[in-house]
Amino acid sequence: MPLNRVLLIGGSGNLGSLILKYLLASPSHPTTSVLSRRSAADTQYPSGVSVVEIDDDYPSAQLVGAFREADVVISAISMAGMHHQHKFIDACVEAKVQRYIPTEFGLDDLPQWLLNLRPMFKTKHDIRDYLASKEHTGLTWTSICCNVFFEMGIENGFFQFHWNEKKAILIGDETIRWPATTLSTVAIATVKVIEKEEPTANKILLIRDFLVSQKDILDEIQNRTGKWDVEKRELDPWLEEAKENVKQGHNEGLPRLTFAVARAAGDWSKKENFANSLLELPRKTFDEEIERVLRSMQEKR
Ligand SMILES: NC(=O)c1ccc[n+]([C@@H]2O[C@H](COP(=O)([O-])OP(=O)(O)OC[C@H]3O[C@@H](n4cnc5c(N)ncnc54)[C@H](OP(=O)(O)O)[C@@H]3O)[C@@H](O)[C@H]2O)c1
Repeated sequence: MPLNRVLLIGGSGNLGSLILKYLLASPSHPTTSVLSRRSAADTQYPSGVSVVEIDDDYPSAQLVGAFREADVVISAISMAGMHHQHKFIDACVEAKVQRYIPTEFGLDDLPQWLLNLRPMFKTKHDIRDYLASKEHTGLTWTSICCNVFFEMGIENGFFQFHWNEKKAILIGDETIRWPATTLSTVAIATVKVIEKEEPTANKILLIRDFLVSQKDILDEIQNRTGKWDVEKRELDPWLEEAKENVKQGHNEGLPRLTFAVARAAGDWSKKENFANSLLELPRKTFDEEIERVLRSMQEKR
C-alpha cells in the first residue's frame, strides 16, 4: 500500500528540517505532519505541515494516538532522544503503521571496543534488532547509514579542523579516504525510501556522496583561507588518549572515537546494500561540495 501519510519526529533538527523540505517537494505529495515536543512549541514549520505536540517524555498513549494517522513514521530525533525509539516502534505496531525509518543516519559497523566504552552507541544496533523482531507484525522498516555528515564534520571540528585556532590535526595516514554524505543527500534518500517502498523494505541501506580524506579537505581549506598550523599524530596514541578520557567519564573524547571508526569505514560502493542507484540519488562531487561548504562558512563569519 502506498505510504501516503508521513509523520516526522525531530522535524526541527539539523537533518529533520531538510527531510521536511524534501517531503514537501516530493512528487508523491505525502500528507506531512511533524511530532514535536511541547517544550519546543515555538518552532515555525512551513505551511502545509501539521504539527502534533507531545509531552517531552513521549508517552506511549500519545504516540499511538498520533501514529494512527500515519502510514510511515520517520525518526530524525537527536542522539539525546534516540532511546525513546523502543516506544516509537511499539506504538507503530499498535497503530498499524506500515513503515518505520529509525534515527540511524551514521556509521554502519560499530566495533565492540566502542560499544564497550559507551553502550549508548549500541542503541542504534539494538533498534535494528528490535525492528527485525517486529517484522511478523507487518511493520516494515528501512535504516539509512551515511557514515558522516560532510558539512557538520568540517564545521564542528569532527574531522579535526579547528577553526578558532586555524589548526588541523592529521591522524595517521592523512590520505586515507572515508565515505561522506551531505545532509541534503541524506534527506533526499529518506524521502526516496517512501517513494520506493517495496525495494527498500526491511533493509539497511548504505549511501554516500563521495570519499574524502583529511588531506583533501586541508588542501581546499588552505587554498581558500591561507596556511594552517598542522599537527601530525599517530593514530593509536591519539585514539588511546580519547579512550582513556571516555573511560574516566568525560565526553570530550567521544567525537575522536567515532571519527576513528568513520575514517576506517572503507569504500562501501562494492557492498551489496549500497543504495545510491536504487534511491536515484543525485551525483555530487567533493570539489563542488567543499566549495559550497567553505563559501557558506565564510559568509556566516
Ligand atoms: N553521521 C553524522 O555525521 C551525524 C552527525 C550528526 C547527527 N547524526 C545523526 O542524525 C540524526 C539526527 O541528528 P540531528 O543533529 O539532526 O538532531 P538534532 O538537530 O540535535 O535534534 C533533532 C530533533 O530531535 C528532537 N529531540 C527530542 N528529544 C531531544 C532532546 N533530548 N534533545 C534535543 N532534541 C531532541 C527535537 O525535535 P523537537 O524539538 O521538534 O521535539 C530536535 O529538533 C541522529 O540519528 C544523529 O545520530 C549523524
